[in-house]
Amino acid sequence: MADPILLATFITITLCCIGLSWFAGSDAPYVATKMDNIKDILKRAGTGKNKIFYELGSGDGRVVIEAAKLGARANGVEQSWIRVWYSRYKARQLRLNAVFFHGNIFDRSYFPADIVYIYLLSNAVQRLEGKLKKELKQGSIVITQTYHFKKWRPFKKAGDFWLYKV
Ligand SMILES: C[S@@+](CC[C@H](N)C(=O)[O-])C[C@H]1O[C@@H](n2cnc3c(N)ncnc32)[C@H](O)[C@@H]1O
Repeated sequence: MADPILLATFITITLCCIGLSWFAGSDAPYVATKMDNIKDILKRAGTGKNKIFYELGSGDGRVVIEAAKLGARANGVEQSWIRVWYSRYKARQLRLNAVFFHGNIFDRSYFPADIVYIYLLSNAVQRLEGKLKKELKQGSIVITQTYHFKKWRPFKKAGDFWLYKV
């Protein structure tokens, strides 16, 4: 029979690892967007029916879900399995048509997107600046939060959010 102390230690360590992994992220740790004014920002970016929305590093899915509530075809890309599962669970509960992809944001192309939302650290934001410039169609909108593009000129700044048009 398994030693109960050994078993308890193993379970505790496993739970701690799962808990810590909730906050991990290669191009930004998990910090959620505050929901106070995100709906307003999404509306300003034109999020609504017949629009394709992508969030790169979608965390717990809150912004994608908000975009789906506004009627957009909303997609999230996230590298943490736990957060992807949680996001899918929340979207199902709300009966919203939001899609969450598990994987690295740099392994995908975003050419169908009308609106892209990014809340990542500066290095990743700078790498995305060139990638999105090449991939997105004319008229698409990119929203950055806290860390911003260096070369694109925003057409709107609202608090921590900057909006750019391709
Ligand atoms: C600062 S949090 C923002 C979460 C969410 N976008 C929000 O605003 O509430 C960054 C998220 O991006 C994810 N992330 C970081 N680097 C990534 C990468 N290369 N590919 C996919 N997801 C990534 C992290 O796991 C984390 O959930």
